[in-house]
Amino acid sequence: MKINGSRLCLNLLIVVSLYVRIGEGQGNSILLNCGTNSTINVGGRRWVGDSATGGNVTLSSSGIEVSTSTFDGDQTYTPLYKTARVFVDSLNYTFRGAQGSYFLRLHFYPFSSENRNVNDSSFVVQANGIKLLSGFNVPDEILQKNLYIAKLGGNSSFSYLVKEFFFTVSGDVLMVEFIPAKGSFGFVNAIEIVNVENKLFVDSVSKVGSNGETSVLSLSKRGIETMYRLNVGGSPIKADEDLSLGRVWEADSSYMLTANAGSDIHTRANITYASANDTSIAPLVVYRSARTMSNTQVMEKRFNMSWKFEVDPDFDYMIRLHFCELSFDKANERIFRIYINNKTAADNFDIFKQAGGKYKAYHQDFLDMVPSVVNTLWIQLGPDPTAGAVGTDALLNGLEIFKLSRNGNLAYVGKLENPGARKTSKSVILWVSIGAGIASIVIIAASIALITCFCQKRRNKETDTKKHPPGWRPLFLLNSTANAKASLHQSLHGSMAPNRTGRRFTLAELKAATNSFEDSLIIGVGGFGKVYKGEIEDGTLVAIKRANPQSQQGLTEFETEIEMLSKLRHKHLVSMIGFCDEQDEMILVYEYMANGTLRSHIFGSNLPPLSWKQRIEVCIGAARGLHYLHTGADRGIIHRDVKTTNILLDENFVAKMADFGLSKTGPSLEHTHVSTAVKGSFGYLDPEYFRRQQLTEKSDIYSFGVVLFEVVCARAVINPSLPRDQINLAEWAMRWQRQRSLETIIDPHLKGTYSPESLTKFAEIAEKCLADEGKSRPAMGEVLWHLEYVLQVQEAWLRSINGENSFSSSQVLADHESREEVDVPEATTSDRGTDLDPKRFEDA
Ligand SMILES: *[C@@H]1O[C@H](CO)[C@@H](O)[C@H](O)[C@H]1NC(C)=O
Ligand SMILES: *[C@@H]1O[C@H](CO)[C@@H](O)[C@H](O)[C@H]1NC(C)=O
Ligand SMILES: *[C@@H]1O[C@H](CO)[C@@H](O)[C@H](O)[C@H]1NC(C)=O
Ligand SMILES: *[C@@H]1O[C@H](CO)[C@@H](O)[C@H](O)[C@H]1NC(C)=O
Ligand SMILES: *[C@@H]1O[C@H](CO)[C@@H](O)[C@H](O)[C@H]1NC(C)=O
Ligand SMILES: *[C@@H]1O[C@H](CO)[C@@H](O)[C@H](O)[C@H]1NC(C)=O
Ligand SMILES: *[C@@H]1O[C@H](CO)[C@@H](O)[C@H](O)[C@H]1NC(C)=O
Ligand SMILES: *[C@@H]1O[C@H](CO)[C@@H](O)[C@H](O)[C@H]1NC(C)=O
Ligand SMILES: *[C@@H]1O[C@H](CO)[C@@H](O)[C@H](O)[C@H]1NC(C)=O
Repeated sequence: MKINGSRLCLNLLIVVSLYVRIGEGQGNSILLNCGTNSTINVGGRRWVGDSATGGNVTLSSSGIEVSTSTFDGDQTYTPLYKTARVFVDSLNYTFRGAQGSYFLRLHFYPFSSENRNVNDSSFVVQANGIKLLSGFNVPDEILQKNLYIAKLGGNSSFSYLVKEFFFTVSGDVLMVEFIPAKGSFGFVNAIEIVNVENKLFVDSVSKVGSNGETSVLSLSKRGIETMYRLNVGGSPIKADEDLSLGRVWEADSSYMLTANAGSDIHTRANITYASANDTSIAPLVVYRSARTMSNTQVMEKRFNMSWKFEVDPDFDYMIRLHFCELSFDKANERIFRIYINNKTAADNFDIFKQAGGKYKAYHQDFLDMVPSVVNTLWIQLGPDPTAGAVGTDALLNGLEIFKLSRNGNLAYVGKLENPGARKTSKSVILWVSIGAGIASIVIIAASIALITCFCQKRRNKETDTKKHPPGWRPLFLLNSTANAKASLHQSLHGSMAPNRTGRRFTLAELKAATNSFEDSLIIGVGGFGKVYKGEIEDGTLVAIKRANPQSQQGLTEFETEIEMLSKLRHKHLVSMIGFCDEQDEMILVYEYMANGTLRSHIFGSNLPPLSWKQRIEVCIGAARGLHYLHTGADRGIIHRDVKTTNILLDENFVAKMADFGLSKTGPSLEHTHVSTAVKGSFGYLDPEYFRRQQLTEKSDIYSFGVVLFEVVCARAVINPSLPRDQINLAEWAMRWQRQRSLETIIDPHLKGTYSPESLTKFAEIAEKCLADEGKSRPAMGEVLWHLEYVLQVQEAWLRSINGENSFSSSQVLADHESREEVDVPEATTSDRGTDLDPKRFEDA
C-alpha cells in the first residue's frame, strides 16, 4: 500500500466550493454521476456530473476525482461506476429546495488506483444529522453481502453496492456529509436523490405480537434504511422497471428457509391498487406474481412458508407485506396467519376481505423491535389453526424490510467496536468474513502508521532504519542493539534510578535459580521473551523475565519496564527485585506471584473459579494499582495493556498489576492526551484511542471495564468461534447490560452465590467504563470507590444468608495451597485455538 503523503496533505488544505446544475425533469429528483463533469444516461435515467457547475447542488470541497481503471462484468451501472469522488477530508453535498420526502441512494463501486487501496477506506455518512453509515468499508460490505448470499445457497457475486435510505426533509436543505476516518479516505460513485411525492409511509403501524395494537412512529423525524425488497414468487425487478422511483426488487427464493414450501403463481390480469393513494407503494408488476403454500392438497397442512433475513440487532424494523388475491373470487377461501420473529403479527388474514376484492393490490405494515441479541428476522405465513375457513392457504406477493433509526442513528456500529482482528495472522480468512468494521479499523491503523512513518522519515532522516521501523522506538534505543544495551546499562546503573532497581544478579545465579532456564519452569511467554519461575539461593521464589536477544520489541519494553518500575512502588503493582545484564543478557527479576493470572482463576484452566466476593476483591486490588499509576506519579502513568493476564495474584490472592512494557507517562499539564501509535490487546482496546490515536488514562478505564465484564461472564474477550454478535465480549455484554439483564450471561459458576444488587452495581460500573467517549468514563478513583461499595453489598448479603453459600478467601486459599505449578496462560492454555485473546499487537 502506498500513500502519497504530499498529495494527501495538499488535499486536506483545499476547500473549494463547486456548483452543480440539477437534472431536468424528474421533479425535484437529482441523479449525480460523481467525480466527473460529464452527464450520462444510464438505466433510462439522466445522471449529471457532480462537478459540472451551477444549480441547487453544492459541494463543500472538490475532493479528488478518480477514474476507475477496472470494471468486471457487465452491470447496469457500468458507465456510472467509471468515476468516483474520493475524499480525505469531510465533504458535504448540499441540495437546496429539497422540502419533501426522498429516497437517497448511494452507489459504491470499489476502484483501484495507484495511490489508494480501496480496502483501506473507511468513512461515515450522515444526512441531515442522521448517521447512515459508520466505519463503512465498501469491499468488506460487499464481501459480507456475497457471503450471506452464498450462505443462502445463491451464487451471485456483487461487485458494487447500493445503499438506500428514505427521509422527510422539513427545511429547505438536504445535506449529505461524508466524513473519512482519521487518516483514511472515502469515496462515492453516484448519488440518487429521488423525490417521493406520494406518501409511502404512515406513522401508525401495527405492532407484532400485540393483538393488533398500533404504534405511532413519528417517521418524519426518523431515517429509514431499506434492508430487503423482494418480489415474492416473481423475477427480479430492475431500477428502470420502476421508473418513477428506481427501486430494485430481488427474487425471494434464496431467502426461503425451505424453498419448496411454496410454489409461485402468476397472472396476466389487470391489477389495480386497492387504495387510490397507493400508486407509489410498489409497481403493479410486483402483484402479478405470488407464492402460495405448495401442498394445499394435503390434509395435513401443518407447515409455514418461512423467510429468514439477517438484520442488525437493536433497531426497530418495519416489515411491509404486499398482497393481491390472484385465484379466488370470494372471501373466506384463503385465510392464514402471519408470524414475524415467531410472534403473531396478524391472524385470520383474508386478502380478499382486506383488499376489497380479487386483483386488488394491497399492503400491510408491521413493526417489530429486534432486540440487541438477535440478528435475524423471520417472516412466516401459515394456516390459522383457529379459523374454521374452507381454505387455509397463504399467499404473499412482495416484501420489504425497513430499518428505522434510533436516536438519529441508522448505522450498526456494533461491529466497529471490536478492533484488532486482521493482525492475528492465523484467522485472517475467518475475520474477513466476520466484519467490515473490524477489518477496516485495522487498516486505518495500518495507514495511519504508514503516514506517521512517512512523516517521521521526512523529518529526521535517520540513517539506520533497516532493522527498526522508525517512529516507535524511544530515542535512546535508536540505532544499534549495542547502543541500546549501553543505554540500558546506563539506565540500570546510571542517572535514571540509581538506587531503586534493586539487586544485580549474576547470570550464574539466575541459571542456578532456573535450572539453566529449563523449559518446564516457563510460566509465561511474551513478545519480549520468556518468564521463568525460579528460586534464588535464600529460598525466595521469583519470576525471571529473560529478554529474547532477537526481540527488538523486547528491548523497548524492557527499557520501559525498568523505567516505570524504578519509579513505582505499590502494594498492588508487581515489584522488581533485581536484574542481570551480563553477557548481552537482559533479565529482570520480580516478586513471584504464586497464583498466576486472574484469567486462569476465571476460565480457560482447570483451577477452581473464584467466588464472586473474591472477584470483587481482585478487581478492587487491580483498581487500586491503576489508581496509583494514574495519580501517584508526577504526570501519571498510563498502563496501556490492562487485561486479565496482566493482573497477577499472589499467594493470598492479592491482585497486582504487571507488565509495564507498554506503559506511557501521562500527558503533561498543558496537554490533555499523549499522541502515540496504537498499542494494546485485542478486545480490550479503547475504540476512541484507536480512532484518534490519542492516549489518556481513560483508555485504561475502558480496558478495565472489559476486565470487569470478563470477570462476570468468564469468557474470552474475543472468541471467533462464537456467532458473529457474540465474538467481542465488550460489545455483547454491553448489549445485555443496556437491557439490564447481564445476569443472563453470567458465569454459571456464580449462579446463586452473588447478591443481585452487587451484580447490578458492578455491571453499571463496567458499563460506565465502556462509555464511547473517554470523557464520559469515570476516573479510576471513582471506579474504585464504587467497587468497594459493591464489596460491602456482597458481604452484607453473604452475612444475611448465613455464610452458607460463601466461599471465604481462606477456604479457596486452602484449595490452592498444595498446587505447585502456575498456569501458563499465554503459551499453553488449551483454548488457544479459538481464543485470540490476549495477544497483544503493536506497531502496525
Ligand atoms: C470537463 O472536464 C474536462 C477535463 O477535465 C474538460 O476538458 C472539459 O472541458 C470539461 N467540460 C465541461 C463541460 O466543463
Ligand atoms: C458539513 O456540514 C456540517 C453540518 O452542517 C458542518 O458541520 C461541516 O463543517 C461541513 N463540512 C464541510 C467540509 O463543509
Ligand atoms: C432549485 O431550487 C429552487 C428553490 O430553492 C427551486 O425553485 C428550483 O425548482 C430548483 N431547481 C431544480 C432544477 O430543482
Ligand atoms: C482488497 O482485499 C481483497 C481481499 O482481502 C483482495 O482480494 C483485493 O485484491 C484487495 N484489493 C486491493 C486493491 O488491494
Ligand atoms: C450459479 O452460477 C452458474 C454459472 O456461473 C449458473 O449456471 C447457475 O445457474 C448459478 N446458480 C444459481 C442458483 O444462480
Ligand atoms: C386491461 O385493461 C386494459 C385497459 O385498461 C384493457 O384494454 C385490457 O383488455 C384489460 N385486460 C384484461 C385481461 O382485462
Ligand atoms: C387518500 O389521501 C387523502 C389525502 O391525503 C385522504 O384524505 C384519504 O383518506 C386517503 N384515502 C385512503 C383510502 O387512505
Ligand atoms: C424462531 O423459531 C425458530 C425455530 O422454529 C428458531 O430457530 C429461531 O431462532 C426463532 N427466531 C427468533 C427470532 O426467535
Ligand atoms: C409456524 O410458525 C410459527 C411461528 O414461528 C410457529 O409457532 C408454528 O408452530 C409454525 N407452524 C408449523 C406447523 O411449524
